Amino acid sequence: MLNANQVVYAYKNRYQTVRAVDGVSQSFEPGRFYAIVGKSGSGKTTLLSLLAGLDLPSGGSVTFDGTSTTDMDLDGYRRDNVAVICQSYNLFPLLTALENVLYPLELKKIPKANARQIAAEKLLSVGIEQSQFKRLPAMLSGGEQQRVAIARALAGDAKVILADEPTGNLDTENGKNIVAILKRLAHEENRCVIVVTHDLAIAEEADEVLRMRDGRIEEAANATAP
Ligand SMILES: Nc1ncnc2c1ncn2[C@@H]1O[C@H](COP(=O)(O)OP(=O)(O)OP(=O)(O)O)[C@@H](O)[C@H]1O
Ligand SMILES: [Mg+2]
Repeated sequence: MLNANQVVYAYKNRYQTVRAVDGVSQSFEPGRFYAIVGKSGSGKTTLLSLLAGLDLPSGGSVTFDGTSTTDMDLDGYRRDNVAVICQSYNLFPLLTALENVLYPLELKKIPKANARQIAAEKLLSVGIEQSQFKRLPAMLSGGEQQRVAIARALAGDAKVILADEPTGNLDTENGKNIVAILKRLAHEENRCVIVVTHDLAIAEEADEVLRMRDGRIEEAANATAP
């Protein structure tokens, strides 16, 4: 469904060029939970932003259902097909939990009453209770905020969920909770879930672990040759 084909991305300025992603080929399928691991600076976030259509590759291509991100309406792609969850600053601080989740539904012009019902459903599904719907993000714990962010990602009905260190500032318990939710989304709702993480415990939960090093995905040590 989502494919990286010999993807290269270079950050350039007058003095130097950094090939942050340096020839990545990988296919990502629905119903699977992928973990991307690797040292700081190995290119994980850059790869994620290319998959999300937030940036375009300098070489190679990222395709979704066969169409390259360079040829598609990227606003539409981001609105309809991918959801991004990052470590922090996920939510609009001046909107309540419910309003945050309503946002992607408004973008899709879903009628109000219907949207409210979907948003409430998504919030409940990640364990946010009715009594918390009207709280601003600052009135929620880190784990709760992260769950609202996931509910918002779900509301848009994205087939691809990209998360960059989604458990980065959470304690172990909350972190496990988020991972369980992401895993359920892959396995029970058939979404393609790709998580960047430093946490090896999370990586252990994944169906596939992709290890990045110097902008490339390393061969898995235990991979069997096809
Ligand atoms: N805006 C930028 N301008 C120039 N170089 C950048 C920029 N952003 C990232 N880089 C460089 O690109 C490389 C990959 O960065 P990236 O953020 O993708 O790494 P990462 O694997 O996500 O690291 P971390 O685990 O620390 O988040 C690094 O060498 C980094 O210094
Ligand atoms: Mg990063």
